[in-house]
Amino acid sequence: MLFDTHAHLDDHAFDADRRELIASLPGRGIGLLMNPGCSFESSRNAIALAEEYDFIYAAVGSHPDVAYEVDDALIAEYRELCKHPKVKAIGEIGLDYHYEDIPRDIQKHAFRLQMALAAELDLPVIVHEREAHEDGLKIVDEFPTVKGVFHCYSGSLEMAKELVRRGWYIGFTGVLTFKNARKALEVAAGIPTDRIVIETDCPYMAPVPFRGKRNDPSLVCHMADKLAQLLGISPEETRRITMENGKRLYRL
Ligand code: NI
Repeated sequence: MLFDTHAHLDDHAFDADRRELIASLPGRGIGLLMNPGCSFESSRNAIALAEEYDFIYAAVGSHPDVAYEVDDALIAEYRELCKHPKVKAIGEIGLDYHYEDIPRDIQKHAFRLQMALAAELDLPVIVHEREAHEDGLKIVDEFPTVKGVFHCYSGSLEMAKELVRRGWYIGFTGVLTFKNARKALEVAAGIPTDRIVIETDCPYMAPVPFRGKRNDPSLVCHMADKLAQLLGISPEETRRITMENGKRLYRL
């Protein structure tokens, strides 16, 4: 069985067939699924899905794209949502310097407030970090008790090793299957296998040969098969290892 450790089933891309799709997943090899929130609204929708389906868990948090919404009042709301037994992490949170729409100071403030909540509640975090490697590591270092996953990892092998040394996990998406995946493959081959988790990040990042189409959790098998090939282990062993890693990450 597979664990899709990062899937946005609450996304509007699934509005037309969400129930049919989710109902089909256990029969297509998906044993567990983590649905992170992207905003307050999305976090509540993630919890609603987790309430309805046994194999779905939720995380709550605000993505850097909506960093403006994060203030003390919202943190108080998230603190309440975290009392729900299916909420297992804070996320996705972090920094994204690719687009300059949201000022970096606003993003860093939102990231710090949510990292502090994770420290307070002793929950793992799901970090989105894009083109902000230095500030990302700096803020992680400010909260030494907080661990989690750098999802859809895009940094260097050196930084991945630093994160692993600090007790973090590294999340790999369909990027593993892309033609220009050299960097992601180098990272996956260069860190201990007990720190690797796989994810779809659906509806985005569909693996080859579905690149550009809507992604969905059933396609996480392509990441597992690519990893098996890369690491020279069987597809069954890869499924077992990444399942165990995901459960350890989210304490399931
Ligand atoms: Ni995501």
